[in-house]
Amino acid sequence: MKQVATRTHTEQYDAYIGGKWVSAGKRFPVYDPSTEEVIAEAADCGPSEVDRAVAAARAAFDSGGWPQTTAQERGRILFRLADKIRQNAAELAELEARNCGKPIVEAEFDIADVATCFEYYGGLATKIMGHVNPVPDNALSLSLREPMGVAAQIIPWNYPLLMAAWKLAPALSAGCACVLKPAEQTPLTALHMAKWLEEVGLPPGVVNIITGYGETAGAPLVQHKGVDKVAFTGSAAVGKGIQKAAADTLKRVTLELGGKSPNIFFADADFEAAIDGALFGVFINQGEVCSAGSRVLVEKKIYSRFVEAMTEKARKIKLGPPLSRDTKMGPVVSKEQYDRVRSYQELGKKEAKLATGGGRPGGFPSGYYVEPTIFYDVDNTARIAREEIFGPVAAVIPFENETDAIRIANDSNYGLAAAVWSRDIFKALRAVKAIRAGIVWVNHMQPTYVEAPWGGYKQSGFGRELGPWGIEEYLETKQVHINLNEQPIGWY
Ligand code: NAI
Ligand code: MG
Repeated sequence: MKQVATRTHTEQYDAYIGGKWVSAGKRFPVYDPSTEEVIAEAADCGPSEVDRAVAAARAAFDSGGWPQTTAQERGRILFRLADKIRQNAAELAELEARNCGKPIVEAEFDIADVATCFEYYGGLATKIMGHVNPVPDNALSLSLREPMGVAAQIIPWNYPLLMAAWKLAPALSAGCACVLKPAEQTPLTALHMAKWLEEVGLPPGVVNIITGYGETAGAPLVQHKGVDKVAFTGSAAVGKGIQKAAADTLKRVTLELGGKSPNIFFADADFEAAIDGALFGVFINQGEVCSAGSRVLVEKKIYSRFVEAMTEKARKIKLGPPLSRDTKMGPVVSKEQYDRVRSYQELGKKEAKLATGGGRPGGFPSGYYVEPTIFYDVDNTARIAREEIFGPVAAVIPFENETDAIRIANDSNYGLAAAVWSRDIFKALRAVKAIRAGIVWVNHMQPTYVEAPWGGYKQSGFGRELGPWGIEEYLETKQVHINLNEQPIGWY
């Protein structure tokens, strides 16, 4: 009788420390959220792996080897990494889609952005420049820009490799050494990329990747004395804890903590573009976007027509397996996130009116699928209008006029992003100035470019990623005073 293979291949990963694959003694399961099956196992790192990784990063930095590599050389390493990513883009996109559930077409855009990010910061390495300070003395006064040291980088699961690139690229360009901790749900693409780090010329220890849970791997990393800077993207609750934990050793901290971003539609906006923009703003990537336009503010003059049109189009969004090219929405990332989104769907039914969705879609016996959901007549004091859901759930809120729109938009603890839709340039630009948020789009929502700054106001965090702003967060400034007087000071 023919033997049937029953064992499915599960890839096992260790941690990447000091240029070597290091076992943590145990591993944790990594899932495909569309099937709920285990697809890999990754190292369950704890304090001892954190110690080893920080020691490796410290050695790479303190030996002077990496920070003194020429800027040209650091740039070329990042260019080679970008090339590797491009050459392996199809494989990486597939792995990303499988691990976090996003549609393959979106994953392909992510991977292209990853390569662009490494390239951008590769180019920026040779543009880090100091100053000559015009001091009123016979002296030469300089400001030097130097790398901050060892950076701990803790990232989320919604754009796994892209978030790794946003953190690693500017840090490496600046000459820092890094300990990256991917989210426990989605470590696979970063681990895959680690296989190329040596080949592209990164000295061992410059990038270390430890996988594991927030409490057991993330927390000891944040507290570690050998870490100079913490860069974090994730929930506001964890971000607040990180700021406190970093205080003891006065680590530099940057935080990107998501939001409850208003997507504002004035009656004079192009109606069709507006409906499309409202849906794109909140449903792209299953709504698992820090800048999701999860509060849809609509002027009363067009309100009922708007809700109707948005609902009709939302019902046609194609849910499906992440690897299907016609899928527009995959499952959310995990059981935990599924339960969380489902509970907000139920809460919304008590707090507002349900236009569409509100549950689990039919036709999916397994997988963490949730329906694209629209609540309307939402009051801005409702929890579904105040708390980040991080799933495909929109809260539509009516407004009276411009003043009312701005008041509601700013009535939030968060301030990451916002969008304004109008054909009246005066009105749109007044709104741009009045909104308290780090990113404001006009007649679009979500386009993100490595050339432009990214980060929040208020409780959406602080510090900026991307562009030249991103590299600033990994640089210290050293004042150098060179006396040109050959006489004694003559004071005593
Ligand atoms: P989280 O904030 O717990 O996880 C993000 C990262 O932080 C992961 O790598 C995790 O392992 C790590 N982490 C968790 N606890 C930590 C600790 N005590 N010390 C150091 N690192 C720690 O986010 P989670 O639980 O995955 O999602 C919960 C909610 O957070 C989401 O529903 C969403 O609202 C928000 N979120 C926001 C993101 C953003 O882009 N701003 C990204 C992910 C989640
Ligand atoms: Mg958490």
